[in-house]
Amino acid sequence: MAKVGIWVGSVFGGAEAVAQQALQRLQQAGHQAQLMPLEADAYQQDWTHVLVCTSTTGQGDVPDPLNLVYYQLRDTLPQVTGRYADVIALGDSSYGDTFAGAGRKFIEVFAEMAVPAVQAALIIDACEESDPVAASATWLAQYVAKLSD
Ligand SMILES: Cc1cc2nc3c(=O)[nH]c(=O)nc-3n(C[C@H](O)[C@H](O)[C@H](O)COP(=O)(O)O)c2cc1C
Repeated sequence: MAKVGIWVGSVFGGAEAVAQQALQRLQQAGHQAQLMPLEADAYQQDWTHVLVCTSTTGQGDVPDPLNLVYYQLRDTLPQVTGRYADVIALGDSSYGDTFAGAGRKFIEVFAEMAVPAVQAALIIDACEESDPVAASATWLAQYVAKLSD
């Protein structure tokens, strides 16, 4: 059984809805999962897996209050052994260079920390997908199946 801490960064609720779907699927498969309070020590808590569900705001920015956790990771690069971290990034490709910037920031920081992912990150483009819950369903099913192996 995996113990999954889900971190949400959402402005208008899309990433939040994706996170709720992840929570439901993980719990139905018998895993322990929780939407994590986004406190500075969130990464230090006793989770085997972290799943970041974040949209992008501003100009490639992480939404508040997930920003606090991002800066804490980036500035301290904490080392916790046996941890996996995965990312679902919502964005809009019409923003050009900052497309899905928040999710990419997490992907970069986890790479710097040498934390592996269960599978390649999912990037959801609002220009192509009007329903992020539907757009994340297959990715989440694969993620849950890998955790259950
Ligand atoms: C003020 C504002 C700024 C945004 N900036 C970006 C951006 O820099 N890059 C990007 O990919 N998407 C950007 N977006 C698009 C959102 O990330 C996208 O619509 C996402 O699906 C919203 O998810 P949410 O409902 O969880 O907030 C921006 C949206 C708004 C309203």
